[in-house]
Amino acid sequence: MAPVTSIADLRSIAQRRIPRAIFEYADRGSYSESTLRDNSAALAALKLRQRVMIDVSERNLATTMIGQPVTMPVAIAPTGLTGLFHADGEILGARAAQAFGVPFTLSTMSICSIEDVAGAVGKPFWFQLYVMRDRGFSKSLVERAIAAKCSALVLTLDLQIQGQRHRDIKNGLSVPPKLTLANMLDVATKPAWALKVLRGKRRTFGNLAERVPGADSLSTLSQWIAGQFDPSLSWNDVAWIRSLWPGKLILKGILDLEDAKIAADTGADAIVVSNHGGRQLDGAPASITVLPAIAEAVGHKTEIMFDGGIRSGQDVLKAIALGAKSCMIGKSWLYGLAAGGEEGVLQTLDIIRREMDVSMALTGTRDIRAVDRSILYPSA
Ligand code: GLV
Repeated sequence: MAPVTSIADLRSIAQRRIPRAIFEYADRGSYSESTLRDNSAALAALKLRQRVMIDVSERNLATTMIGQPVTMPVAIAPTGLTGLFHADGEILGARAAQAFGVPFTLSTMSICSIEDVAGAVGKPFWFQLYVMRDRGFSKSLVERAIAAKCSALVLTLDLQIQGQRHRDIKNGLSVPPKLTLANMLDVATKPAWALKVLRGKRRTFGNLAERVPGADSLSTLSQWIAGQFDPSLSWNDVAWIRSLWPGKLILKGILDLEDAKIAADTGADAIVVSNHGGRQLDGAPASITVLPAIAEAVGHKTEIMFDGGIRSGQDVLKAIALGAKSCMIGKSWLYGLAAGGEEGVLQTLDIIRREMDVSMALTGTRDIRAVDRSILYPSA
């Protein structure tokens, strides 16, 4: 087999190894997928400045995210259903992130529970919260994250209601995954996955299954989300979560300048400029196109993180040039996980690190902390 040299290679391997329904849950977006495509296209349209004859023999990618030291400014984003991409996927992701020296974020919608992951890794991880209609349950999730010594709470703001992902409906995506007549042929071609995941001990939502009625009996994911997630959420609820959580708070899913100002005024430690990877409001702009104005307006009040289309180290550099302190990766890390488990996640991180290192040097920059707009062509 040809050597793996890019995130695109990991994506191809992932596509061959796991069932279509799971792969497309990660890979695809909502409705016409115009925002999904725009995330990548807008990043590709930005041009890096090649600079020469600058001594770049010593280089540094290490920095901090919300005050925590990281070996590069990239965190693993919260992704739902991760343990279906590879058995114990969340544990493997957290281990790889820990070994690499970057943050791992566990999703509310994970397969391995908060306690499973806390028991399997030595270092604190971040926990992402979706607020459910049952506020007592939401509060208990925050308490479990405190008990597990999570080092940040990532509150997602942009999924009160789920944007429709046509592929999930067409594929009959369900949790736990079911063998149906329609997917039998597909699953039969992925025996290693079937053996480990379908016959593994963790196949449903680890944080929710025993506590939220119906969490393991409803057939489709979208139906379940519609029943459980609270569409009435408001900024008052952010204040409520703030009062429950004593640690670092990150608000994820900001795309609008007005929202960014309100979010910064909550005193959050960071915001994530994000359109949820093109999975929510189809027709919204690419995350990268709104980043500069948001960073300029509130970057002095709160740390700016970025996601949406990051598939390479060059993409990370571009986001940092436009005002982000760091980036999150969702699809890119799930491709690595599905392709090769913990090793595959390490490969994802390593590919991005090397690309960032070399590309930064080719812009004549030695330190990631010095990256700014000057590494881009001015038209950007
Ligand atoms: C959940 O966060 C999703 O985007 O599916």
